[in-house]
Amino acid sequence: MNIRVFENPQMAAVYAAALVEQVIQSVRNPVLGLATGSTPIPLYESLVSFHRQGLSFAHVTTLNLDEYVGLSADHPQSYHHFMNEHLFRHVDLPAEKRFLPNGAAPDLALECERYDQIIREHPIDLQILGIGLNGHIGFNEPDVALKANTHVVTLARDTIEANARFFGEQERVPTEAITMGLQPILMAKKVLLLAFGREKANAVLSAVRGDVRTYSPASILQVHPNVTFILDREAAHILE
Ligand code: F6R
Repeated sequence: MNIRVFENPQMAAVYAAALVEQVIQSVRNPVLGLATGSTPIPLYESLVSFHRQGLSFAHVTTLNLDEYVGLSADHPQSYHHFMNEHLFRHVDLPAEKRFLPNGAAPDLALECERYDQIIREHPIDLQILGIGLNGHIGFNEPDVALKANTHVVTLARDTIEANARFFGEQERVPTEAITMGLQPILMAKKVLLLAFGREKANAVLSAVRGDVRTYSPASILQVHPNVTFILDREAAHILE
């Protein structure tokens, strides 16, 4: 497990973007696993600026980690909308190569199967992750057991509270999501986990230094052969 600590999120994001660029330029048909939330925003800003300087996404496929159940693609808090706003509409990534789970699907079990089939057809070269305050990755929440495949999850209270900032009030945060399971994350050739801010320090500490535990889902990354934690000083402050 590699750990890189940067002065601030912007510097960390440029480093992460350079690693993404390397994959985009060196792999014939690269597949990127993407995250949403506030953490990857500076990374997407850097990628957009790399695109403006000539980096093409025309041959890239993207698979997002998760989507809220009940939100259609055009809902302003959906992850479909987030990806359009922060990355897709600014780059030349073909629309048919962008995949996210459909949280508004009438049959969610079928939707999970559909998404797993897409994942099987597009093994991930580089997976971008954030981390929840409770150690979740994607929306794989702390629990007695973790799941390998795409599934519907009831969001943890901590997650709903943390994400209330995007919805204005807690009552508007969906209580369920569809998330990729841990298998495709662990099978990705390379994983970058980004974490910024003092409030992430405990989650980062138990992911990298604690035992591998289902109650700290990110700790499972310890078994992956090529993971880099990209942190700012605040998120790393209790690691030294
Ligand atoms: C979102 C996702 C989540 C977030 C995590 C941190 O696609 O997979 O695991 O990465 O909840 O969210 P932020 O970055 O908003 O603190």
